[in-house]
Amino acid sequence: MKEAWWEKAVVYQVYPKSFKDTNGDGIGDLKGIIDSLDYIKDLGVNTLWLNPIFISPQIDNGYDISNYYAIDEIFGGLEDIETLIHEAHKRDIKILLDLVLNHTSDQHPWFQEALRGKANIYRDYYLWADEKADGVAPNNWESFFGGSVWEKEEKSNQYYFHLFAKKMPDLNWKNPEVKRAMVEIAKFWLDKGVDGFRLDAFIHMIKDDFNKDVPNVPAGEIAIAEEYYANLPEVKRYLSEFISEIKEVKPDCFILGEAASATPELADSYIREDLCQTVISFDHFAERIIEQDERIPKGLEKRTLDAPEMKQKLKKWQHSLSEGKLPTLYWNNHDMPRVVSRFGDDTQYRDKSAKALALSMYLLRGIPVILYGEEIGMKNLEIRDIELFQSPQATSQYIQLLENGLKKEQALRRIASVNKEASRGVMQWDASEFAGFSTKANWIGENREMFYNVAVESQDEMSVLAFYKQLIQLKSEDLFTFGEVIFLETTDNILAYKRQYNQEEALVLVNLTGEEVVAPAWLDSYSDWILKMDSEDVIGKTVAPYTYKLYIKKDEE
Ligand code: BGC
Repeated sequence: MKEAWWEKAVVYQVYPKSFKDTNGDGIGDLKGIIDSLDYIKDLGVNTLWLNPIFISPQIDNGYDISNYYAIDEIFGGLEDIETLIHEAHKRDIKILLDLVLNHTSDQHPWFQEALRGKANIYRDYYLWADEKADGVAPNNWESFFGGSVWEKEEKSNQYYFHLFAKKMPDLNWKNPEVKRAMVEIAKFWLDKGVDGFRLDAFIHMIKDDFNKDVPNVPAGEIAIAEEYYANLPEVKRYLSEFISEIKEVKPDCFILGEAASATPELADSYIREDLCQTVISFDHFAERIIEQDERIPKGLEKRTLDAPEMKQKLKKWQHSLSEGKLPTLYWNNHDMPRVVSRFGDDTQYRDKSAKALALSMYLLRGIPVILYGEEIGMKNLEIRDIELFQSPQATSQYIQLLENGLKKEQALRRIASVNKEASRGVMQWDASEFAGFSTKANWIGENREMFYNVAVESQDEMSVLAFYKQLIQLKSEDLFTFGEVIFLETTDNILAYKRQYNQEEALVLVNLTGEEVVAPAWLDSYSDWILKMDSEDVIGKTVAPYTYKLYIKKDEE
């Protein structure tokens, strides 16, 4: 059987607002991505995922779409996306657009029509319910963005449902018209030449009966209600109907589904010809708190990688998907802080931890998804002003931290260390005032980095960038695509696995932490294997922080 193209996909995620600005408005644009295609090609990746670029009021950076058929003017126009697709394809790079199925912007004409009243034909595109009692929302479900999922619409005295921001009402997928409209949208973009979609938040498409309340929640309070609005069994039925129709026009359309809370078992059920080719889940990450400080409220504590736990999770993800199904392999995306700051060490071991973590993850079985800037060791954005955070939560956290006695800088750093926006700083192209991203101050901010930028790292064969290129190149080999994965026994902080394919074998060994740990006794038996990637630490009885090694078995002629 011919292998599907995505079996060897290495995805590069670009957050268009932060990648490259060519028109000097401080916001990245499509021309900036077009201009960077040679850089992207040179990295060795073969698939580009763009976060949303459609017309949007930008309440949630484009995840609130008011017109799915046109490009937001901050990014350019239709001709720019056409050029991008064309130029990417010329370089054998596939394009995935981010498609938001679960909700629209409240400015979308469908919702504007729906607001006109109960009799409007678009009313049923969205989810409405009556109040439970006088002034009481239909149930006690909490929105992911804080507050109730329900927002009252005064004119009709009904409530509409929003799982995310108030200005992002959820669509009613039980209405066949919604599916029909979304199929048209998908076909429109496939017709323009895109190769697939990253499906945003699809696991929430279907909700349970609105009469149900989360149990044991005090009256008048709300609670996150995943059991009622995530991963309901009917999601598969509705998604399948949608995907089957779009696959009729493009059978090799690649669906990268976002299934944030999926366990490996659930992921396995979502990876199907008529659903997703693979999914992005947050399940494989494990963190632990490393500092107790009573001034720091829950959720803002200093954390680091919980290496033993994460190892168990990775093993599970590698071994519990059915034959032929691939997980995604990733360390960060636009919804979480950057890997080198979150799990590595962005001061003492910046290069080494960036390389070690990359090696440990990307040679496993699965599809790597690399966030722009990760390949140069970009760290969390140093946010200098609380006003720059968009999430209202950040402001309340800030006030609380100051009240608890933290200095402004400490408070900002602490918030940035957990906030998703810390990953969205602009790409560091060079060391100039605006990081080579733009000619003026930009929408979110930049880190001024003398050494961690494309210009400097391109000239240095020991850089994080050079390492990523080498790693991506290796990943394309059959050994690292199709080879069996065998985990080896090690002390808790070391991840070691072999890949085997026909006569070929490789061994990856990484100390995932900043601690020195006991070396595995079996390492001696690999002494005649060739060292292909090496942090140059001598392994005796112990393994130094963030040591990484890739050994390849010598050919036996
Ligand atoms: C995206 C988020 C977005 C949310 C709502 C996601 O999971 O990745 O950035 O806020 O969906 O669309």
